[in-house]
Amino acid sequence: MSVGLAGKAAIVTGAAQGLGYAISKAYVTAGMRVALLDVKADLLQSVQAELGANSTAFTVDLSDGEHTQAVAQQAVTWCGVPSVLVHNAAILVNRPLLAIHLADFQRELAVIIQAAFILTQAVWEPMTAAGGGSIVFVSSRSGVVGFDEESPYVAGKHALEGFMKCMAIEGKARQIAVNTITPGMYMHTPMSEYNYSEALKQQWIDPMRLTPAFLTLATQDGRGISGERLNAWHMSQQ
Ligand SMILES: NC(=O)c1ccc[n+]([C@@H]2O[C@H](COP(=O)([O-])OP(=O)(O)OC[C@H]3O[C@@H](n4cnc5c(N)ncnc54)[C@H](O)[C@@H]3O)[C@@H](O)[C@H]2O)c1
Repeated sequence: MSVGLAGKAAIVTGAAQGLGYAISKAYVTAGMRVALLDVKADLLQSVQAELGANSTAFTVDLSDGEHTQAVAQQAVTWCGVPSVLVHNAAILVNRPLLAIHLADFQRELAVIIQAAFILTQAVWEPMTAAGGGSIVFVSSRSGVVGFDEESPYVAGKHALEGFMKCMAIEGKARQIAVNTITPGMYMHTPMSEYNYSEALKQQWIDPMRLTPAFLTLATQDGRGISGERLNAWHMSQQ
């Protein structure tokens, strides 16, 4: 059990599978209570059943702004005081510019950046009242460079990096740490099953191996690491 985390609460998006599931499992194992958010209701229920009474499932489509606002409030209420928010959910669909429908562009951006805005607003006052907290946005190399046929995802991840920089400045007086984190290593997740070449699949690792970084970030507030683009693989090796 990680020192200092028992009894604390977390909100994790994209918790039904992949990296979000791994983070949620690591947090519950560390004695934390975790609000699990995802759009995949059945999968989320089975994750909740596995993780047990220290977790609760909140089914939400994070591209739906009003529903996300309502569910974010419910999750905060369930947590009491969330010590850490990890916004991890994202959609990656590869196609060229002219194959992207406007509604899909809006949906993919909304899951990444609009949900980050809504969730951050929801935890801002409770974390301030509690004397601080930690907000983590899961980014990617796509947050700093472009890739072929990934324009909504790359635009969303770049937006996340900019939003983090502003929130880290605003969060300082509130003792709220705000960071982005990139996996830093090829991960074996459903997103990667779809997206990786056979060569990359030779190198992928279980995302559980990246969770030490997320445990460290759950202990932070604005007096510690903030305003940084972090690397989960490097942090997890320390
Ligand atoms: N897989 C990689 O190699 C890789 C590389 C760099 C960054 N990342 C980032 O890591 C994070 C996790 O990736 P992953 O590989 O575990 O992805 P994944 O696709 O396996 O899991 C993403 C989760 O987000 C959820 N989600 C998607 N749309 C949603 C919506 N509208 N509302 C609510 N939930 C929604 C999915 O249901 C899923 O459970 C993402 O932010 C991704 O951009 C992944």
